[in-house]
Amino acid sequence: EQVIQNNLTEEVKNLLSSLPKESGWMISDHLYQYQNFWYPAIHLQALLNIQRNFQALDTDLVLVTNPKCGTTWLKALCFAIVNRFHFDNPKQYHPLLTNNPHILVPFLENLYMIDQNPDLSCLSFNATRLLSTHIPHASLPDSIKDSKCKLVYLCRDPKDTFISFWHFNNKLRKDMEHGSLEEAFEKFCEGVVEFGPFWDNVLGYWKMSLESPERVLFLKYEEMKKEPKTHLMKLAVFLGSPFSAEEEKDGVPEEILNLCSFDNLSNLEVNKTGKMPMAGFEFSVFFRRGEVGDHVNHLTPEMIERLDKITEQKFLDSGLKF
Ligand code: A3P
Repeated sequence: EQVIQNNLTEEVKNLLSSLPKESGWMISDHLYQYQNFWYPAIHLQALLNIQRNFQALDTDLVLVTNPKCGTTWLKALCFAIVNRFHFDNPKQYHPLLTNNPHILVPFLENLYMIDQNPDLSCLSFNATRLLSTHIPHASLPDSIKDSKCKLVYLCRDPKDTFISFWHFNNKLRKDMEHGSLEEAFEKFCEGVVEFGPFWDNVLGYWKMSLESPERVLFLKYEEMKKEPKTHLMKLAVFLGSPFSAEEEKDGVPEEILNLCSFDNLSNLEVNKTGKMPMAGFEFSVFFRRGEVGDHVNHLTPEMIERLDKITEQKFLDSGLKF
């Protein structure tokens, strides 16, 4: 918390004192509500820097998620699709074999957390910059909204997302006190979660995907797990790099799916022992089970019913279902 305080500008410190504040159930002790969404102080600092200084390019690809919705997988898949002509023999060498996907496709929030205007020139292996963020649609910088850059939004059943978040935070907190699952659940239901409310984050991008399907591809984790190849092909088309008939014949899509699979990534040395720079936690925290429906092992039937009701109500007029 002290390190975070030291990296905040006076402007943000002043802003924080005027914002609604809640005690966090996660790694950050407190969350602040800004433009209707909840952030830890350091991410709020990053958001202001991004809103002010980030210049999107029409060729940028921005991967957007609520935390714990499958960001790591999406980053790996998109990186492998976009850069496949540079590394066309993935069995021999591929950056994903020696780098965690979060290093290859960094979060804007992490880039702008400490540095108000970081140098982004090292971001791409080719003309396309691959970036990611959890920032809700309403708070995106104008530079992204006004450009022609493409966005991929990946969402996930909120029940599994919550459980994934719960485990993730417990791992990050290590021997610190974990709080109760019930308390955390209550906060999640109230919308108090990093970059949440969960549903509002989803809805912003869902609406944009309906209005501008050429700019936003909206995906669901569950559907990707069920039909990975169909979704990989869809992603490649959307990203402007469809698989040719010859690539299909050669099994390139299958090769990418295997490279990016939970089993392959989670067993790589880098992901077993490597650490996230600055934050210092192990990459292994991004890999737990990678399955659909694990919430039934942790939530009571009452909790499931409550979360399903909230989701139904929030998505009522949107046409979006889980
Ligand atoms: P679980 O905790 O349910 O296992 P994020 O990447 O957004 O932080 O999301 C993490 C979730 O995605 C975790 O879910 C994690 O296990 C799962 N995940 C990580 N890598 C994956 C992959 N290659 N394929 C499918 N799921 C993956």
